[in-house]
Amino acid sequence: MHSGNICIGGFMCSGKTSVGRELSRRLGWEFLDTDVVIEQRAGMPVPRIFAELGEPAFRRYEFEVVSEAVGGSNRVVSLGGGALVNTELRNRVLSNACLVILDVQAETVLCRAERPKGARPLLDSNTVHSLMAKRTSAYASCHFRVATDEFPVNAVADRILANIPLTRRLTGTDTIRAAAETLCVPA
Ligand code: S3P
Repeated sequence: MHSGNICIGGFMCSGKTSVGRELSRRLGWEFLDTDVVIEQRAGMPVPRIFAELGEPAFRRYEFEVVSEAVGGSNRVVSLGGGALVNTELRNRVLSNACLVILDVQAETVLCRAERPKGARPLLDSNTVHSLMAKRTSAYASCHFRVATDEFPVNAVADRILANIPLTRRLTGTDTIRAAAETLCVPA
């Protein structure tokens, strides 16, 4: 049973922040980008957290921030690409939110990543394929998944909302849970 949150997960550059923001706008729900909350809490941007405090410190912030984010209700939460690798955190997300994974191909990631260089410490054109392969199991458990490569943000948001009947006020979460389970199919 979860409390009417939607979490958006998936690999870097899959469009999690843009799609999450669009969903929150349409639903009138609070939007949280967990990387932004981590940056506020740490008082420095993600690349500096990695460089100065190290990845384990980033992951500790991430665990705390994501757990708190899904502890609320009626929130759209965009996760960092590595958040679901931690099994305990993934289970918290799955029990407190409808988890939508945005699928993206490595070629699309490389193309999109050309824009803001340096913003993602773990994004390296030489290792995208292998990191993506390593993350397959982290992204396998979800309520449903949506392919994003050739679709603009609006179309991905349309698809998510078409699959979750949330346009009416969602109080409980049985509605979302039931819908999600029926639609737990590959995009
Ligand atoms: C990471 C993804 C990033 C950010 C950090 C680590 C990852 O978020 O959390 O650089 O491990 O995949 P985005 O997926 O929003 O780029």
